[in-house]
Amino acid sequence: MTKASVVVNADVALGTIDRNIYGQFAEHLGRCIYEGLWVGEDAETPNIDGIRKDVLEALKNLSIPVLRWPGGCFADEYHWKDGVGPREGRKRMVNTHWGGVVENNHFGTHEFFRLCELLETEPYICGNVGSGSVREMSEWVEYMTFDGESPMAKWRQENGREKPWKLKYFGVGNENWGCGGNMRAEYYADEYRRYQTYSRNYGDNKLFKIAGGPNVDDYHWTEVLMREAGRHMDGLSLHNYTIAGSWEEKKQALDFEEDGWFEVMKKSLHMDELITRHSTIMDKYDPEKRVSLIVDEWGTWFLHEPGTNPGFLYQQNSLRDALVAGLHFHIFHKHHERVKMTNIAQMVNVLQAMILTEGDKMVLTPTYHVFEMFKVHQDAEVLQMSVDSGDYELNGDSVPQVSVSASRKNGEVHISLCNVNPSAEAGVSLDLRGIGADGQVSGRVLTSDVMQAHNTFEQPDTVKPQPFENFERGESGALSVTLPPMSVTVLTIRG
Ligand code: AHR
Repeated sequence: MTKASVVVNADVALGTIDRNIYGQFAEHLGRCIYEGLWVGEDAETPNIDGIRKDVLEALKNLSIPVLRWPGGCFADEYHWKDGVGPREGRKRMVNTHWGGVVENNHFGTHEFFRLCELLETEPYICGNVGSGSVREMSEWVEYMTFDGESPMAKWRQENGREKPWKLKYFGVGNENWGCGGNMRAEYYADEYRRYQTYSRNYGDNKLFKIAGGPNVDDYHWTEVLMREAGRHMDGLSLHNYTIAGSWEEKKQALDFEEDGWFEVMKKSLHMDELITRHSTIMDKYDPEKRVSLIVDEWGTWFLHEPGTNPGFLYQQNSLRDALVAGLHFHIFHKHHERVKMTNIAQMVNVLQAMILTEGDKMVLTPTYHVFEMFKVHQDAEVLQMSVDSGDYELNGDSVPQVSVSASRKNGEVHISLCNVNPSAEAGVSLDLRGIGADGQVSGRVLTSDVMQAHNTFEQPDTVKPQPFENFERGESGALSVTLPPMSVTVLTIRG
């Protein structure tokens, strides 16, 4: 058993873990919106205003703070005016980017805001720079947020919504270095400045404007955007996926052995370096950290499941994905001063999803359970810690075996721990300073005996949180914890 020692200074808070770090992303892609969320008011599937009830209830349990929509690459082909007004008259378009299927525009602006209301989630809308116009974007903001007499406000009222919605988070394009127009950083920086100028703040609705940011390690993009447009933005996005294999030759979600497990753990940890290096550039232009880094696409990207449309990006989700989520959250907590929002890709049926559906059936994934277990960290104070972790080694390479993060909220301390080693327990000695030695401790763990463990419609509970009691409290209050191999654990200490 590997030994790790952790010191948590429960009385030294470093800052707040923004709840928006636990954000989600739903794109018009595959079966995310249609079937996954939207079935329509006339469907036999139980629904509230067209949104399926089972998925809604499960998602509500995650306390999702913010939801990004309508894309992704789809955002830069989306023309919002096609998605408002009576549904039967809405334009049918081809979703050229994702599978070439017909998009009937039945889920549009009004439906999205309704979904957010039902989820009690902040909307984050991404506008079209790639194939749209300044006027189209400007009018969308007017339609959603203007309270008074104007052409767009009047149209919104005719479409059944008297009062404007509140909209804070607004993205000015998506991946404009790629599917959002194949622009150079220098060109997009100017386009960003122009488009955001006409995305107005109406009344007391103040937009938090997010510029399309770099792809992975494109530090030049960050440099140019911050230099040329930094003062016009509130956030800069970053996209990075954890890919098994290579971009050209991806591997399947469940088809891996230990080398595939190790590869994905190691690639997850790369997020730390990316954030550190992009933040360093941002610090140069914005030492006060006014501009947030918004990691609005992250998660695993595997080869689509056999027999499914490759353009739908449908993949299974295993215990390996759960570890990926846990490691990412710990990295985001660490960078809480700069990273104020992240949005996993995606919420239902696409990439590293929370939920998979098949017709009326629904299953929660291991990733769902990590989001649920970690929601205690939302808006909590991140605590100072030191971690001395042993290594998990494979084929001459290594990663730290144990990853830890601690936070405090409402008189409770929460410590999450990931043991990434698939075959060895980790003994962790947890020195808890600044907290009473007699506080009550409880825990939950997500684990399995097999790396590829996952949930199916037939066996939905293969991977789900279990009570965790594998710890002992010493006299000084220190905790001696034994983490199972390949596990995600959350401990709660009260008092
Ligand atoms: O999440 C899937 C796609 O990945 C998004 O549409 C795009 O922004 C990214 O390349």
